[in-house]
Amino acid sequence: MTTPNEPAKRAEDNSHLRWLTEQSPSRSRKCNVRATHEVIRSTAIDAKEFLASCRALIDAELDLLIPKESAEPERVHSAIRWSLFAGGKRFRPALLLATGQTLGARTDDLMRAACALEMIHTYSLIHDDLPAMDNDKLRRGRPTCHVKFDDATAILAGDALQALAFQTIAEDERLSPDLRVQLVVEIARAAGTPEGMVAGQAHDLDAESREVTNAELERIHHRKTGALIRAAARCGAIIAGAGARELEAVTEYATNLGLLFQITDDLLDVTATAEDLGKTPGKDARASKATYPALYGIEATHAQLEVVHRATRNALDPLERPTQLLQSIADFIRDRRA
Ligand code: IPE
Ligand code: IPE
Ligand code: MG
Ligand code: MG
Ligand code: MG
Repeated sequence: MTTPNEPAKRAEDNSHLRWLTEQSPSRSRKCNVRATHEVIRSTAIDAKEFLASCRALIDAELDLLIPKESAEPERVHSAIRWSLFAGGKRFRPALLLATGQTLGARTDDLMRAACALEMIHTYSLIHDDLPAMDNDKLRRGRPTCHVKFDDATAILAGDALQALAFQTIAEDERLSPDLRVQLVVEIARAAGTPEGMVAGQAHDLDAESREVTNAELERIHHRKTGALIRAAARCGAIIAGAGARELEAVTEYATNLGLLFQITDDLLDVTATAEDLGKTPGKDARASKATYPALYGIEATHAQLEVVHRATRNALDPLERPTQLLQSIADFIRDRRA
């Protein structure tokens, strides 16, 4: 089992960072992280490779932004680090980086917003697992926050992560004040209600006790999962200074990608192992969740997956940019096994 102090160590083990350290041994760790951004930018068009490089960078940056366990209140900070540094895919921050880079943004300008998205996402997972919500005991391969600590600490850890996310953007001096406000609005809408993640989670819980139509299921998925994924891509595009047409294409792409992501999440709950998932499979059926496999069956869900995957890729057509990485991300999400 990993320790909460692991991310900094993991970042130092990263081969890009090691390479940079060898090139310029006198540089501080912060500078190494910044220089590494350009390594990512110049090479990756394969989603798997890109996500792997992003993970180390995001973890190193998050480690700088999150209070240490030794700072008071230690229990809340330990709980935040327990959940945040447990080995998530870092998909939302990676998508923000990929979209921003595709549209010409500098990686340094994207990093803080990317970390903010991961903070909001991890907060949503901590609360999603609470006994009053999905009541899950395993997350990212380790006991959930409320199991390891207690319900009150898990609630506070989630609350704190949400506040830290907005603080991170508001204090990002690389971006103009106007841009920061735009990002705060974008993420607040996506995280909250009536169009965001909180609204989706409320509908998801409500749907446990009743039948939902196909259209309702799609609405739930767009809100509970799609909204943050769409915000990740849009924030990348906004930081890059995308025009209205580009932003529209990115929004269409990421709206479909968000749906694709939750359909695969639903499928994996039926087909994957706890070892692959890092969470307990089979929970959706036991909790009578509204999911694609529950409503359509496995085979028809695979057919839907193909339709949404095609729509995701087609949405990139209007972009006169190198979109291979964004296309590869769509393929990666369709085919993912964890
Ligand atoms: C799980 O998200 C929750 C959903 C919105 C489906 P991820 O599958 O991205 O979880 P981590 O971040 O990799 O743990
Ligand atoms: C979660 O959907 C969406 C969130 C906002 C966290 P799920 O409840 O299906 O996510 P998992 O399967 O627990 O990760
Ligand atoms: Mg849930
Ligand atoms: Mg859940
Ligand atoms: Mg799920």
